[in-house]
Amino acid sequence: MSAEPIVHLNGEYLPIGQAKVSVLDRGFIYGDGVYEVIPVYGRKPFRMPHHLARLQRSLDGIRLANPHDDAQWSALVDALVARQPFDDQSVYLQVTRGVAKRDHAFPLGVAPTVFMMSSPLPTPTPEQVERGVAVVTAEDNRWHRCDLKTTSLLGNVLMRQLAVDADALETVMFRDGLLTEASASNVMVVRNGIVLAPPKDNFILPGITYDAAADFTRAAGFAFEIRPVTRAEALGADEMWLSSSTKEVLAVTTLDGRPFAGGRPGPVFKRVHATFQAGKR
Ligand code: PDD
Repeated sequence: MSAEPIVHLNGEYLPIGQAKVSVLDRGFIYGDGVYEVIPVYGRKPFRMPHHLARLQRSLDGIRLANPHDDAQWSALVDALVARQPFDDQSVYLQVTRGVAKRDHAFPLGVAPTVFMMSSPLPTPTPEQVERGVAVVTAEDNRWHRCDLKTTSLLGNVLMRQLAVDADALETVMFRDGLLTEASASNVMVVRNGIVLAPPKDNFILPGITYDAAADFTRAAGFAFEIRPVTRAEALGADEMWLSSSTKEVLAVTTLDGRPFAGGRPGPVFKRVHATFQAGKR
């Protein structure tokens, strides 16, 4: 087996060092593309139909034809997963509007660029699960189509760096006094034993783990209520959670440098996290 990871580029499987894209690719020039991150447990993609439905939604949102149907995508992902030497993986796939002379207008008759790679799944550490994680807060200044999973992530990148600068894991954002999400995670809070999550409107990414968290919350016997959450409700909540494909669910225990929610993961988190662990495979 090659020492270098094998990736997929436009139908070919090759070592990552040999995968080359033109500098005129619209993904490079404009961030004109969409992507997915799919967690794979024991070589089995988690909630694959949900990821493919969201991919289609993102492609529709940027008016780019899907180069593959669901069966083809599944086969491509399976083939990539089979080429990696580890069982739990994080599959990254992206589709861009392809290579064309630089012009903002969509190019005609250009094939999209399809790229996929897979890394060992970076699941949370036991310490992150048991002690919770730190976040900072910021005003959400991203565009109004945060529901599309596009590769134009500069707004999210700048938000994440605020967290890194403060030794925190994530930046939790508010827009006009309402909770939206974090730089690469959804956010939900617990008040009086009820989990509250912002609606999946155009200001947040419709997270696949958000839906899984909703299912596991209900399976654990708690209510999961979807409605706008104010900044005051979030900052005064009993618990705050992050969810994403690579974080699963994590409890926030430090916020803007101060202990949050008693500084320990709360009882609802513990129950739902256990349900999630039991049900994720
Ligand atoms: N990020 N919100 C944003 C802005 C995200 O980037 C992500 C995921 C989520 C959670 O979505 P999901 O539960 O489907 O992973 C919410 C991925 C992991 C990333 O960009 O690496």
